[in-house]
Amino acid sequence: MKNLKRLFLSILMLCSLNMVAKEGMWLPMFLQQLNETEMQAMGLELTAEDIYSINNGSLKDAIVHFGGGCTAEVISGEGLLLTNHHCGYGQIQSHSSVENDYLSNGFWAKDRSEELTNEGLTATFIKYMKEVTADVLLNETDGMTEAERREMIKSLGDSLISLEIEGTHYEAMIKPFFKGNRYFMFVTETYTDVRLVGAPPSSIGKFGSDTDNWMWPRHTGDFSIFRIYADKDNNPAEYSEDNIPYTPNKHLNISTQGVKPGDFTMVYGFPGRTDEYLPAVAVKQITQVLNPAKISIRKTALEIMDKEMRASDEVRIKYASKYASVANYYKKWIGENTGIQKTQGLKRKREFEQAFMDAVNSDEKYADYAGLLAVYDSLYGELEDIAMARDYFIEIAYRGVAIVNFANKVSKFVETGDAKDLERFKKSINGHFKNYDAHTDELLFDALFKKYELEQADSEYLPAYFNGKTYSAKEVFSKSYFASQEKLEDLLNSSTKKVQKKLSKDPAFKVASALYGHYRNVIYGKYWSLEDELDAVDREYLKAMMEVLPDYRNYYPDANSTLRLTYGQVQGVSPLDAVSYGHITYLEGMMEKYVPGDYEFDLPEKLIELYDSKDFGPYADDNGKLPVCFIATNHTTGGNSGSPALNAKGELVGLNFDRAWEGTMSDINYDASRCRNIMVDARYVLFIIDKFAGAGYLLDEMTIK
Ligand code: ARG
Ligand code: ASP
Repeated sequence: MKNLKRLFLSILMLCSLNMVAKEGMWLPMFLQQLNETEMQAMGLELTAEDIYSINNGSLKDAIVHFGGGCTAEVISGEGLLLTNHHCGYGQIQSHSSVENDYLSNGFWAKDRSEELTNEGLTATFIKYMKEVTADVLLNETDGMTEAERREMIKSLGDSLISLEIEGTHYEAMIKPFFKGNRYFMFVTETYTDVRLVGAPPSSIGKFGSDTDNWMWPRHTGDFSIFRIYADKDNNPAEYSEDNIPYTPNKHLNISTQGVKPGDFTMVYGFPGRTDEYLPAVAVKQITQVLNPAKISIRKTALEIMDKEMRASDEVRIKYASKYASVANYYKKWIGENTGIQKTQGLKRKREFEQAFMDAVNSDEKYADYAGLLAVYDSLYGELEDIAMARDYFIEIAYRGVAIVNFANKVSKFVETGDAKDLERFKKSINGHFKNYDAHTDELLFDALFKKYELEQADSEYLPAYFNGKTYSAKEVFSKSYFASQEKLEDLLNSSTKKVQKKLSKDPAFKVASALYGHYRNVIYGKYWSLEDELDAVDREYLKAMMEVLPDYRNYYPDANSTLRLTYGQVQGVSPLDAVSYGHITYLEGMMEKYVPGDYEFDLPEKLIELYDSKDFGPYADDNGKLPVCFIATNHTTGGNSGSPALNAKGELVGLNFDRAWEGTMSDINYDASRCRNIMVDARYVLFIIDKFAGAGYLLDEMTIK
């Protein structure tokens, strides 16, 4: 009896372990080998072949890399694409004007002729992938430097690629996996005529804005709709009136069945970057040294921008997008630090390292691995100050103070005096000033450069500029040509010689060339040579841990902007003592957050009417309420935005767009007890298209279950 009980308990433990800990971003071609059994045990009703197949239409044929940064999916037989509002934001903004403000009012093409073209926007399908490790490492030798190894891989890879795509319109790329222990080739097909079909107003698509960003509970309808166009043979083509809607191999079916806690879900998309195998010393440096410095710089910048944005509508509009992008990772890093601390991430990394060293020391055949962690200690020790100096440069001179970045753009011309270089610079002027306010930038210059000088004072990498003649913000902004479009364009009417002479003495240019020069001459080379050394150790360490501790954890390749599948369960979360969050939010919650006139929490009249009349059509949950967002334990990261969340049958139930704040350390130390991805409920997407926007004709081409 006792034995039976114990057996039962251990089976239960196994099950619950299996059912909850769903860390991993898996390569589609290995699903059958590595994941199918577990996925089916969790509820998946498909086979691995249904998800990824080279020969037959599979779910992968509906997934696209959208503009190289986000994910989107085909949801109709006529090339309709679903992605996030924040992924299509640039396109929506570029079609907007004061008269046609699609950001504020939304946009819905009433028929195909109204769909809007987007120069430069791409949709890339993965045709197939294959392993090429042995081919690209053919001539690897022990004594090779990292640069030599890279060169070998590049040159062997390039010939493989040309062979592979010869006679097709496909492209291919080869990327390192498992820290460069393995290499895979991806053969891709890229469509370049991708048109905007519809987007809700920002009060839905960006509801909650930065206050709610990275937060659960969430009520953002973060979606927009595009369509791929092809030539008459269904092949990629540049925009043409003659192009026709793309006919996909496969499009996703959409389910209105909704989700319950415990339901299997998977997210299929293009996660950008993770670092799950970092040693404790690196995680400590990131969370205790580099993140705090960057957080503090961004806090200063955000406070200044916020104040100016609140004081002027013009500044608010100009800085909206910049503010959002600075705020996004500012908030993410705070969440990452808190998450590492709350989950004792460092302690757990150290425990892992102890287990690793114990195993290594217990067997002579592992002798080569015995020194790895010590090498890490010394390399990260060396890296710290230079990485910090690099972050100060990037956060302040490159990103934070626009006039410095802008002035740097003439450095080539000032050096060569070549009119062609000046022409190139001239092309950037309108774009720069369109979203620029000199007064705000002056405040940023003043505050951020004071910080730079003060906080880097003891660093051996303090730019020499700070020890020589420095410029006050006032001096720069009263004297620099770069502070005023008028003054600058006036000057540009003079002879090339005169322009060159004046700009070379411009105070903003002087600051820029001092700091960019210091970055190029002092920081860049040293930083990247240390990163090179670290790459080699990373490769060895990951190989070692997989060999020495094969069962200690899940091993999967870090995200690298290639197609991955991650799976988990719909599940609430309790990230703090006595705090527990449900798995789903409803329209009611939007009403609770509603602040009339507020730029983050205002609501469209029409939505309030629909709420009051409870006119939810077939999109309500069993309890009669209209679902908005839900969360699950899928392991996602930046780039997964716009990825479909699929149910056990492979039907679209949600659209991924964010993670819950308490779990944003998932990029360096995933923890299933806290990490949740956030999705818009598919029913809410359909409701907004149908009931709110009156664009129900779009639903006619979808397959809704
Ligand atoms: N946090 C999400 C991601 O990393 C959404 C960002 C866009 N939204 C925003 N309010 N900035 O991309
Ligand atoms: N919001 C992110 C994106 O745009 C997703 C994430 O980081 O979870 O890809």
